[in-house]
Amino acid sequence: MASAGGIAAVIASKTKTKKKHFVAQKVKLFRASDPLLSVLMWGVNHSINELSHVQIPIMLMPDDFKAYSKIKVDNHLFNKENMPSHFKFKEYCPLVFRNLRERFGIDDQDFSNSLTRSAPLNSEAQGRSGARFHTSYDKRYVIKTISSEDVAEMHNILKKYHQFIVECHGNTLLPQFLGMYRLTVDGDETYMIVTRNVFSHRLSVYKKYDLKGSTVAREASDKEKQPPPSEDVPPRPKSGNVQQRLQTLRIATRFYCAMKHVRDAKELPTYKDNDFINDGQKIHIDGENKKMFLEKLRKDVEFLAQLKLMDYSLLVGIHDVERAEQEEVESEDNEVEEEGESDGGGIGTPPDSPSNTLDSNKPLCPGEFDPSIDVYAIKSNEGAPRKEVYFMAIIDILQHYDAKKKAAHAAKTVKHGAGAEISTVNPEQYSKRFYDFITTILS
Ligand SMILES: *[C@@H]1O[C@H](CO)[C@@H](O)[C@H](O)[C@H]1NC(C)=O
Repeated sequence: MASAGGIAAVIASKTKTKKKHFVAQKVKLFRASDPLLSVLMWGVNHSINELSHVQIPIMLMPDDFKAYSKIKVDNHLFNKENMPSHFKFKEYCPLVFRNLRERFGIDDQDFSNSLTRSAPLNSEAQGRSGARFHTSYDKRYVIKTISSEDVAEMHNILKKYHQFIVECHGNTLLPQFLGMYRLTVDGDETYMIVTRNVFSHRLSVYKKYDLKGSTVAREASDKEKQPPPSEDVPPRPKSGNVQQRLQTLRIATRFYCAMKHVRDAKELPTYKDNDFINDGQKIHIDGENKKMFLEKLRKDVEFLAQLKLMDYSLLVGIHDVERAEQEEVESEDNEVEEEGESDGGGIGTPPDSPSNTLDSNKPLCPGEFDPSIDVYAIKSNEGAPRKEVYFMAIIDILQHYDAKKKAAHAAKTVKHGAGAEISTVNPEQYSKRFYDFITTILS
């Protein structure tokens, strides 16, 4: 951030000259219910295109870890319904994140398509309170709105993180950081980071836990057990001319098509350590998977402790194969009805809506997954009481001990708040306690 003032990498200087020009938009439009998402789609498309013209260097240079590319768009008339007329888009360390995507086996064009073919979907919170989440329309990626402190922390750790990813060949339970952006609309800055989805893009999760290995205030509150309210409500048709009403209808249709595909992923409460224990929950995986999982976990938490990061969680999602099959049958029944109804509407499915593209992913057998996409998936073992698939990875790693200590100090009077726990635990102890607890959840 502050350190990113550089003349640094090629891409920075390259796009900086561009910044002074107006950028004319072309045919395909980016439409999302939230203008910020339209800007994100625009920006990712732009950035991936720019990068495709930048040669892949033999190795990354120290300056690449401070570089950024920026573009300012003044777009008075074009696609005004969906895009703000002025906005800025900044990508942090474009070459580093491109390199990371490659190491995580993600093709840049696929990445761009996932984020831009259709608008990202609002998603339930997967982590620390207050954070906003979206998933890409195909659910492969998670887009998280983060704070400027998180951006600074990312810059602090990026070099070591990259080194770690190189050494483990991308084989890790740490978040796969794939891109970090700043979006400026109406003078407001929003920071976003894209990671690979811990959960599957097609196997639904029916139960979700956020585990830390601590028992202090580690159960879902009654409020957390309630499904969160949906923010992404389509606008109601207001009065206005026919054009406007049609546009509103189109947005509503698109919203509806998108929602059809996320309804089981949505509205899932996040349970915590004590809930896991009280539920008598176990993760039934075979010895080989367990060994590999714990080996990764051990290296990952050692690395986090070295960086003095703490307060991260293990996100656990459980897919129940039979239950999902049952739900599939039920939702197919509904879809028949729904299609019947929309026939008379005359609006039809927009060509770029998720329903057209997602279906092509379907024909795997129940409970099967593509391990190159659902990289965190592990099948239940032979002896498991139910056929399940587990998704487990570390999330929320950007909490630095020193920053946390300061915050805790400031909030000293708050009982059971941030302060209560950290004063007694440092990153090293946190990592040990975390690891020890996770070993106990595997059977
Ligand atoms: C995506 O980027 C390409 C290349 O910069 C551009 O031609 C295209 O118009 C962009 N798409 C949209 C919808 O802006």
